[in-house]
Amino acid sequence: MTSSRREFIKAGVLGSAAVAAGLPQVAAAGEKKNKPLNVLILGGTGFLGPHMVRETLRRGHQVTLFNRGRTNLGLFPDLETIKGDRDNGLDGLKGRRWDAVIDNSGYVPRHVQDSTRLLAANTDRYVYTSTVSVYADFDIHNLETSPLATIADESIEEISGETYGPLKALCEKRAGAEIDADKLTIIRPTYVCGPGDHTDRFSYWPIRTRKGGEMIWPGSPQDVIQIIDVNDLATFTLDCVDISISGIYNAVNPAASYTMGDLLQDSQAVTATTVDAQWISEEFIYENELAGSRLLPIWNPKSGEHGGSGTFSGEAARAAGLHNRPERETARNLLAWWDTQSEERRADMKAGLPAEHEAGLIAAWKAKNA
Ligand SMILES: NC(=O)c1ccc[n+]([C@@H]2O[C@H](COP(=O)([O-])OP(=O)(O)OC[C@H]3O[C@@H](n4cnc5c(N)ncnc54)[C@H](OP(=O)(O)O)[C@@H]3O)[C@@H](O)[C@H]2O)c1
Repeated sequence: MTSSRREFIKAGVLGSAAVAAGLPQVAAAGEKKNKPLNVLILGGTGFLGPHMVRETLRRGHQVTLFNRGRTNLGLFPDLETIKGDRDNGLDGLKGRRWDAVIDNSGYVPRHVQDSTRLLAANTDRYVYTSTVSVYADFDIHNLETSPLATIADESIEEISGETYGPLKALCEKRAGAEIDADKLTIIRPTYVCGPGDHTDRFSYWPIRTRKGGEMIWPGSPQDVIQIIDVNDLATFTLDCVDISISGIYNAVNPAASYTMGDLLQDSQAVTATTVDAQWISEEFIYENELAGSRLLPIWNPKSGEHGGSGTFSGEAARAAGLHNRPERETARNLLAWWDTQSEERRADMKAGLPAEHEAGLIAAWKAKNA
């Protein structure tokens, strides 16, 4: 596996085929439930979770959280929180019933087997947050039925760039073995973006744009990329709960509809800044070992094994009700959030080119083309 594939998987974007795994394939939407529901969120205090918590409460439902009490302690002081570890520590969930469970913290197949086995008889819906990293290939237009990545040793529990996707595929399979198909929803997001994103992968581009000047942009303005807005994901997840949507869904913006050139335009628009964009070639990117790295986040080379990485199909989810807001709105919302962060956090970008590195690359790029 190349470093580029590893980075792409590590970025959290991306088994045997789902059909073979016995996973549900067909949407089965029921009646909207008008009564308030009790919803259990396994996790809830990272990035996706808080948006889901707020959307659940906004709909008049009740939320219980289950986590170890390590991440963002005190974020939801008014919610019932059951403290426990998914690794052999589910006792606090025993003997309880919830109308729906949203599983955001399942990375290890054994953990997902344990939670689904325990909760199967005690819930009407189990939503498992998976990832598009489950797909075996990123150079094709992936549908929910496309082949999934596999791992030779299924007992491995260490999460790395290489094991993340195959293990998430196995987690899906374990969930499918325990939960009836008409109660199970599997959502496969691509890069999740918006307020609260601790990875800074999408955020880097508008935040860097705001500084102005000469700025490196990878590949070409026509290169397609794909994201999902965190609030659109939360809304779709809660729709799956509210109207009993079963099946497997890629959670992405429309395939091949959004490009790096669009991202540049959006970044300039939301920051009211114009940059002098230096579009560096893929050849130059490979020469400088930048391909698929967090230094050029979200973007992947079009010539290599990730050629199709901006083309996951989101049609099944959209047919089931997923709404994608304009990416410009995502950029605007995340900037507003970014400006509320501490000075220390804002000085600590988790992705993108550090200023000196970027300046050096711009000089080298100009020298190459002189
Ligand atoms: N970010 C992306 O771009 C992206 C893309 C595709 C898919 N995903 C999927 O999104 C999910 C993660 O989203 P998130 O982290 O933002 O979710 P989240 O629900 O906001 O946060 C993760 C939660 O899991 C809890 N947790 C972690 N390990 C635990 C354990 N062993 N036992 C009990 N609780 C545990 C954490 O709390 P404690 O630490 O206090 O236990 C935290 O509350 C994953 O399933 C990932 O595969 C993300």
